[in-house]
Formats: sequence, structure tokens, C-alpha cells
Amino acid sequence: MNLGFLASHNGSNMQAVIDACRSGRLAASPVVVISNNVDSGALERARNERIPCFHLSGRTHPDPEDLDREIVDVLLEHDVNLVILAGYMKKIGPVTLATFPGHIINIHPGLLPEYGGQGMYGRRVHEAVLAAGAGTTGATVHVVDAIYDNGPILAQKKVRVKKSDTAGSLAKRVLEIEHELYVDTIGRIARGEIKLP
Ligand code: GRF
Repeated sequence: MNLGFLASHNGSNMQAVIDACRSGRLAASPVVVISNNVDSGALERARNERIPCFHLSGRTHPDPEDLDREIVDVLLEHDVNLVILAGYMKKIGPVTLATFPGHIINIHPGLLPEYGGQGMYGRRVHEAVLAAGAGTTGATVHVVDAIYDNGPILAQKKVRVKKSDTAGSLAKRVLEIEHELYVDTIGRIARGEIKLP
């Protein structure tokens, strides 16, 4: 399996997956990294790992259709067959969705279908969980479709919310299990234990 990553910021989930490929835990190869953010940690990590990487954004391609097509071209040129969103803050375009139907996956720092949708990302998810007084939160891996956080759920892992938790402490604990969950889920896809739609 050839993995192509789309990431906007730090890229710690991406790094966890790359590490699992390097160690042989995952039967997959990280082949390309695309970021909309020229200063992202994700691009720096890609360079450190000697993985081809590209900054593609509204700055490089002002027309959204051109950008969508360029993203697809780069993914296809690198023989990607599974697209991994790792903290990618942009909506996936129709050409990308049509080119990789059911083969774009995302990780979300909450238990979907709750605490998801447009504008519900990062710290906001953890703040909403705390505001609701929820006893449990977690992370979700799901297939990406045209609607934010909407596609079929592939896997979830729960985290208990403590009385002393802040959005920051929750974010930290959820991120730790995200790394485990993402690697585990991609492994199950690679072994055919999870069938993508
Ligand atoms: C993670 O919390 C992930 O669930 C969300 O964005 C964050 C990305 O973190 N989609 P990182 O860039 O992988 O460190």
C-alpha cells in the first residue's frame, strides 16, 4: 500500500504512521506528503524522512479546481492508493474524492458522530466535550466524503474524561491514542481486515 498524506500543521499522526512503516509494523510505504501550509511541521518531517513533499494551496493555485487537480496529479504520480488526512484543515475537492473513492481516511479527535462537522476541530472539540460534561471522549477514524466528518466510521478508541481535565490535557491524552488508533486502523486496512467502501 502506498500512502499519500495531506497535513496542515504539526503532523504527529503522520509521523506515527511513517514510524510504523519504517519499523515494519505496517506493510505500507509513505510515498508523498502534501501540505497547504508552507511552514508546517508536516513538511519538515517529510523532508527529514526524505519523503517527496509539496506545498499546494490557494497561494500556489488560486483557482480551487486547479488546486484539486494538482493534488490528484501529485498523488497519482506517486502511485498513492490510500490517502491519509493527518490534521488537514481544508476540504477535499470533488476531483480528489472521485479519483480515490472510499480510499481517503481521516482521524478526528472526538467520538463521531458527536462533536464533529464544520468548525468542530482541534481544541474546540475538547472544549465542547468538557462543556457537555461528557464522561468519555476519544478518537475516530473514518472514510472521507464531501461532508466534514461524515463518512463511514472505521474505528474508534475511547478516553475517559477526568474531573480535573482541561481542553489542553484532554487534547494531549486524545492525541496519544490517535497515534495508536491510526496506525492500528491502517494496519487492519492493509491486511484486508477492514474493507474500504
Ligand atoms: C489531530 O488531533 C487530528 O485528530 C486532527 O488534527 C490533529 C492533528 O494533529 N484531525 P497532528 O498534526 O497529527 O499532530
